[in-house]
Amino acid sequence: MKIGIIVYSKTENTYSVAQKLQEKLMAQENEVEIQRVTPIGEVNPKAKNIQYENKPDVIKYDSIIFGSPVHAFSLAPPMRAYLEQIESLHGKDVACFVTKGLRFNWTGGNQAIGKMKKIIESKGGKVVGTDIVVWNKNRDQKIDEMIRKFAILF
Ligand SMILES: Cc1cc2nc3c(=O)[nH]c(=O)nc-3n(C[C@H](O)[C@H](O)[C@H](O)COP(=O)(O)O)c2cc1C
Repeated sequence: MKIGIIVYSKTENTYSVAQKLQEKLMAQENEVEIQRVTPIGEVNPKAKNIQYENKPDVIKYDSIIFGSPVHAFSLAPPMRAYLEQIESLHGKDVACFVTKGLRFNWTGGNQAIGKMKKIIESKGGKVVGTDIVVWNKNRDQKIDEMIRKFAILF
Protein backbone atom coordinates (compact mmCIF):
# COMPACT_ATOMS: atom_id res chain seq x y z
CA MET A 1 0.00 0.00 0.00
CA LYS A 2 1.21 3.49 -0.79
CA ILE A 3 0.83 5.67 2.28
CA GLY A 4 1.47 9.40 2.57
CA ILE A 5 2.21 10.90 5.98
CA ILE A 6 1.46 14.56 5.51
CA VAL A 7 2.46 16.82 8.39
CA TYR A 8 2.66 20.41 9.39
CA SER A 9 5.23 20.86 12.15
CA LYS A 10 6.52 24.18 13.43
CA THR A 11 8.94 22.98 16.09
CA GLU A 12 9.53 19.39 14.85
CA ASN A 13 7.54 17.45 17.48
CA THR A 14 4.87 16.33 15.03
CA TYR A 15 7.52 15.59 12.41
CA SER A 16 9.44 13.34 14.82
CA VAL A 17 6.26 11.31 15.44
CA ALA A 18 5.77 11.05 11.67
CA GLN A 19 9.27 9.61 11.31
CA LYS A 20 8.60 6.90 13.89
CA LEU A 21 5.31 6.07 12.23
CA GLN A 22 7.00 5.83 8.84
CA GLU A 23 9.58 3.40 10.20
CA LYS A 24 6.89 1.10 11.60
CA LEU A 25 4.66 1.18 8.51
CA MET A 26 7.62 0.52 6.22
CA ALA A 27 8.54 -2.51 8.31
CA GLN A 28 5.06 -3.81 7.40
CA GLU A 29 5.90 -3.73 3.69
CA ASN A 30 4.13 -0.48 2.87
CA GLU A 31 5.58 2.22 0.68
CA VAL A 32 5.55 5.29 2.94
CA GLU A 33 6.48 8.89 2.20
CA ILE A 34 6.54 11.82 4.59
CA GLN A 35 5.59 15.15 3.08
CA ARG A 36 5.65 18.47 4.86
CA VAL A 37 3.08 21.21 4.61
CA THR A 38 5.17 24.39 4.55
CA PRO A 39 3.50 27.79 4.61
CA ILE A 40 5.28 30.86 3.29
CA GLY A 41 6.61 33.02 6.14
CA GLU A 42 4.93 33.54 9.50
CA VAL A 43 1.24 32.75 9.41
CA ASN A 44 -1.25 35.12 10.96
CA PRO A 45 -3.54 32.77 12.94
CA LYS A 46 -6.59 34.56 11.56
CA ALA A 47 -5.42 34.42 7.95
CA LYS A 48 -7.94 32.92 5.56
CA ASN A 49 -5.81 32.67 2.47
CA ILE A 50 -2.58 30.92 3.47
CA GLN A 51 0.06 30.49 0.75
CA TYR A 52 2.39 27.49 0.69
CA GLU A 53 6.00 26.86 -0.20
CA ASN A 54 5.17 23.14 -0.18
CA LYS A 55 1.63 21.90 -0.59
CA PRO A 56 1.68 18.07 -0.86
CA ASP A 57 -0.44 16.42 -3.54
CA VAL A 58 -2.59 13.59 -2.15
CA ILE A 59 -3.52 11.92 -5.43
CA LYS A 60 -0.82 9.24 -5.53
CA TYR A 61 -1.59 7.75 -2.10
CA ASP A 62 -4.00 4.92 -1.27
CA SER A 63 -4.08 6.01 2.35
CA ILE A 64 -3.05 9.15 4.15
CA ILE A 65 -2.09 10.07 7.70
CA PHE A 66 -2.33 13.76 8.51
CA GLY A 67 -0.43 15.17 11.51
CA SER A 68 -0.44 18.64 13.03
CA PRO A 69 0.21 20.52 16.24
CA VAL A 70 -2.58 22.09 18.26
CA HIS A 71 -2.38 25.88 18.19
CA ALA A 72 -4.58 28.18 20.27
CA PHE A 73 -6.91 25.40 21.45
CA SER A 74 -7.59 24.14 17.94
CA LEU A 75 -6.04 22.85 14.73
CA ALA A 76 -2.95 24.84 13.64
CA PRO A 77 -4.12 27.21 10.86
CA PRO A 78 -1.57 26.05 8.25
CA MET A 79 -2.98 22.48 8.46
CA ARG A 80 -6.58 23.68 8.57
CA ALA A 81 -6.20 25.80 5.44
CA TYR A 82 -4.18 23.07 3.68
CA LEU A 83 -6.91 20.48 4.30
CA GLU A 84 -9.53 22.93 3.10
CA GLN A 85 -7.60 23.43 -0.14
CA ILE A 86 -7.45 19.69 -0.99
CA GLU A 87 -9.75 18.89 -3.89
CA SER A 88 -10.72 15.30 -3.11
CA LEU A 89 -9.96 12.46 -0.71
CA HIS A 90 -12.48 10.16 -2.32
CA GLY A 91 -11.80 6.44 -1.88
CA LYS A 92 -8.95 7.00 0.59
CA ASP A 93 -8.63 5.71 4.13
CA VAL A 94 -7.36 8.51 6.32
CA ALA A 95 -6.00 8.66 9.85
CA CYS A 96 -5.05 11.79 11.70
CA PHE A 97 -3.17 12.79 14.82
CA VAL A 98 -2.21 15.93 16.65
CA THR A 99 0.54 16.73 19.14
CA LYS A 100 -0.04 19.23 21.91
CA GLY A 101 1.72 20.68 24.91
CA LEU A 102 -1.02 20.91 27.52
CA ARG A 103 -2.00 17.86 29.44
CA PHE A 104 -5.71 17.45 28.80
CA ASN A 105 -7.30 16.54 25.48
CA TRP A 106 -9.93 19.23 25.95
CA THR A 107 -7.31 21.99 25.74
CA GLY A 108 -7.39 21.89 21.95
CA GLY A 109 -6.80 18.22 21.11
CA ASN A 110 -10.42 17.19 20.74
CA GLN A 111 -11.25 20.41 18.88
CA ALA A 112 -8.35 19.94 16.44
CA ILE A 113 -9.22 16.30 15.73
CA GLY A 114 -12.89 17.21 15.29
CA LYS A 115 -11.95 19.87 12.77
CA MET A 116 -9.67 17.51 10.83
CA LYS A 117 -12.38 14.83 10.69
CA LYS A 118 -14.99 17.26 9.48
CA ILE A 119 -12.85 18.64 6.66
CA ILE A 120 -11.55 15.17 5.62
CA GLU A 121 -15.08 13.76 5.46
CA SER A 122 -16.30 16.77 3.51
CA LYS A 123 -13.69 15.84 0.85
CA GLY A 124 -14.91 12.23 0.68
CA GLY A 125 -12.18 10.67 2.85
CA LYS A 126 -12.97 7.89 5.29
CA VAL A 127 -11.50 8.56 8.75
CA VAL A 128 -10.33 5.20 10.10
CA GLY A 129 -8.36 6.35 13.13
CA THR A 130 -7.40 9.38 15.22
CA ASP A 131 -5.08 10.08 18.13
CA ILE A 132 -3.70 12.81 20.35
CA VAL A 133 -0.13 12.93 21.72
CA VAL A 134 0.45 15.13 24.76
CA TRP A 135 4.05 16.25 24.59
CA ASN A 136 4.60 17.05 28.22
CA LYS A 137 3.28 13.87 29.82
CA ASN A 138 4.37 10.24 29.20
CA ARG A 139 5.16 11.21 25.64
CA ASP A 140 7.19 8.17 24.60
CA GLN A 141 4.62 5.75 25.93
CA LYS A 142 1.81 7.61 24.18
CA ILE A 143 3.71 7.71 20.87
CA ASP A 144 4.32 3.95 21.08
CA GLU A 145 0.63 3.36 21.76
CA MET A 146 -0.38 5.52 18.83
CA ILE A 147 2.02 3.77 16.48
CA ARG A 148 0.70 0.37 17.51
CA LYS A 149 -2.87 1.57 16.98
CA PHE A 150 -2.16 3.06 13.53
CA ALA A 151 -0.05 0.06 12.44
CA ILE A 152 -3.13 -2.16 12.67
CA LEU A 153 -5.03 0.18 10.33
CA PHE A 154 -2.63 -0.04 7.39
C1 LIG B 1 1.42 29.29 18.73
C2 LIG B 1 1.27 28.03 19.56
C3 LIG B 1 0.05 27.75 20.18
C4 LIG B 1 -0.11 26.59 20.94
N1 LIG B 1 -1.33 26.33 21.50
C5 LIG B 1 -1.51 25.16 22.20
C6 LIG B 1 -2.81 24.85 22.78
O1 LIG B 1 -3.77 25.57 22.66
N2 LIG B 1 -2.93 23.66 23.46
C7 LIG B 1 -1.89 22.79 23.62
O2 LIG B 1 -2.07 21.75 24.25
N3 LIG B 1 -0.64 23.08 23.09
C8 LIG B 1 -0.45 24.22 22.39
N4 LIG B 1 0.79 24.51 21.83
C9 LIG B 1 1.88 23.52 21.98
C10 LIG B 1 2.06 22.68 20.72
O3 LIG B 1 0.83 22.15 20.27
C11 LIG B 1 3.02 21.51 20.97
O4 LIG B 1 4.24 21.98 21.44
C12 LIG B 1 3.21 20.67 19.70
O5 LIG B 1 3.74 19.41 20.03
C13 LIG B 1 4.11 21.39 18.71
O6 LIG B 1 4.21 20.61 17.54
P1 LIG B 1 5.31 20.91 16.43
O7 LIG B 1 6.67 20.84 17.12
O8 LIG B 1 5.16 19.84 15.44
O9 LIG B 1 5.07 22.28 15.89
C14 LIG B 1 0.97 25.67 21.09
C15 LIG B 1 2.20 25.99 20.48
C16 LIG B 1 2.35 27.14 19.72
C17 LIG B 1 3.69 27.44 19.07
